[in-house]
Amino acid sequence: MTMRVKQLRHIFTVIMLVFPVLVGSIRRTDFPDTFVFGSGSSAYQVEGAAFEDGRTPSIWDTFAHAGEYGGATADVSCDAYHKYKEDVKLMADTGLEGYRFSISWSRLIPNGRGPVNPKGLQYYHNLIDEIVSHGIQPHVTLCHSDLPQALEDEYGGWISRRIIDDFTAYADVCFKEFGDRVLHWTTLNEANVFALGGYDNGMTPPNHCSPPFGMRPCPIGNSSTEPYIAGHNLLLAHSAVVRLYRRKYTSIQHGSVGLNLFAFWSLPYTNKTVDVLAAQRASDFYLGWFANPLIFGDYPHIMKTNAGSRLPKFTREESKQVKGAIDFIALNHYMTVRVKDRSTSLENDIRDFSADAALEFILTTQGATPPGMFQVTEPGLQGALEYFKQNYGNPPMYIHENGQMTPRNATLNDTSRIEYLQAYIGNLLDAVRNGSNVKGYFTWSFLDCFELLGAYRSGFGLYYVDLNDKELTRYPKLSAHWYSNFLKGKGFKDSVVLQTEDKLYSSQ
Ligand SMILES: *[C@@H]1O[C@H](CO)[C@@H](O)[C@H](O)[C@H]1NC(C)=O
Ligand SMILES: *[C@@H]1O[C@H](CO)[C@@H](O)[C@H](O)[C@H]1NC(C)=O
Ligand SMILES: *[C@@H]1O[C@H](CO)[C@@H](O)[C@H](O)[C@H]1NC(C)=O
Ligand SMILES: *[C@@H]1O[C@H](CO)[C@@H](O)[C@H](O)[C@H]1NC(C)=O
Ligand SMILES: *[C@@H]1O[C@H](CO)[C@@H](O)[C@H](O)[C@H]1NC(C)=O
Repeated sequence: MTMRVKQLRHIFTVIMLVFPVLVGSIRRTDFPDTFVFGSGSSAYQVEGAAFEDGRTPSIWDTFAHAGEYGGATADVSCDAYHKYKEDVKLMADTGLEGYRFSISWSRLIPNGRGPVNPKGLQYYHNLIDEIVSHGIQPHVTLCHSDLPQALEDEYGGWISRRIIDDFTAYADVCFKEFGDRVLHWTTLNEANVFALGGYDNGMTPPNHCSPPFGMRPCPIGNSSTEPYIAGHNLLLAHSAVVRLYRRKYTSIQHGSVGLNLFAFWSLPYTNKTVDVLAAQRASDFYLGWFANPLIFGDYPHIMKTNAGSRLPKFTREESKQVKGAIDFIALNHYMTVRVKDRSTSLENDIRDFSADAALEFILTTQGATPPGMFQVTEPGLQGALEYFKQNYGNPPMYIHENGQMTPRNATLNDTSRIEYLQAYIGNLLDAVRNGSNVKGYFTWSFLDCFELLGAYRSGFGLYYVDLNDKELTRYPKLSAHWYSNFLKGKGFKDSVVLQTEDKLYSSQ
């Protein structure tokens, strides 16, 4: 570096210190015009009207009605089925550029396959029209944990390959009906966590697991094999849908179809080699499980080694079908975790996915319930996006979910959520500036809704919904005002103090 550049840098640094508000301020306009900022929801979590107009139960309804949330269900929830006009107006007033939501498969096609339910079809036409007429981009997920119970009962849902044809036929209806207005499609929400929560620890629908791995009792399951089988079928179903879109719709609708993954950002707990390797394994097992087949046509080597014959093999034909069947990868990102080696788990004869991964997650945030969800220690959006940039050829990416969990109804003055969002949006901008191909960001969630873990006990919303009020009135939290101001051009100070890695290491 020349002397002159050094001097300029020095002067710049001094200016930064003196005028942090002016210089270190982050604005919507710092992101490309084509970048989309929005917020999200999913069908079961907000729609309510669970038994109305021909909708049949999904595996999530069944899970809730079995008492898994202490009696809470989303039978009514935010009643977005009836209040969508009011909600879309609220979105427009807030300044959302995009709205991410999902279609309830069992509302559109009540038996999972076969005839379309005209009332369900009308609802989604109305919702999409309303969104589009307010100048908001619809980003639509086809299946957000809510497989029709009919298909689970008939052949075991995602455990069976029969799901591939049914999912593809359902997607075909959605593309044909809504694809003139919807350009951004996601096949599956959190494919990785769906397979693990649903089939390994049994914490989420369809509540399969087997001893000793379940974190709650499961009526059926096999934690050693089913997560891998479900994962394989999720990949095959996803890629069948992408192929269908490319064959039938791309040339007329010009949209894109992606997959959504839950993504921690994993860093080694210590700088010991075993922990560094464990952090790499975490990325291979939790992200590479889906990303490697989609980008390279096969599972990560370490998964094949550790899971052995329990991990299905791609035939040559399947590998060809899966490879490249992706227009974008979307991440739901909430926290950074520290990863510690636990290679001893590979000595167990009976293993599940976690034992095969042979690692332990250490959440670094103190005083949070659950840890890590409350406070920002090290925003990992840039790390996660860089990981895809460097290991998977910088594919188009979206951040589909990011937000802070707080006890529901604690306060409308949610300054901690604002700090969280500021830290992550600042971190996102760093990723954009460093060349990441990220195209959009959605906060989770627009409304406080029925959460996968904990139902109504916690909330991530920009808006609080009063469940004791017959009208289910929506109240803006401070974070709604803050996000709205940001979307309408107001800057915020890039000054959130973050713990550096050094501090984290030295505190251990
Ligand atoms: C799970 O499936 C494997 C492979 O079929 C079998 O060896 C194992 O006994 C099964 N475990 C349980 C708990 O059913
Ligand atoms: C591990 O990290 C600590 C703290 O940052 C540092 O003092 C030490 O030198 C590092 N050890 C190695 C082997 O890199
Ligand atoms: C939560 O909402 C209920 C219903 O509106 C209200 O009665 C209660 O006071 C609220 N609690 C808090 C802590 O705001
Ligand atoms: C919200 O809470 C913060 C921190 O507790 C406080 O400084 C601020 O005055 C409060 N704002 C409102 C509008 O109550
Ligand atoms: C920025 O991108 C370069 C080139 O891909 C990479 O080497 C570097 O690690 C990135 N920086 C950060 C902070 O991620």
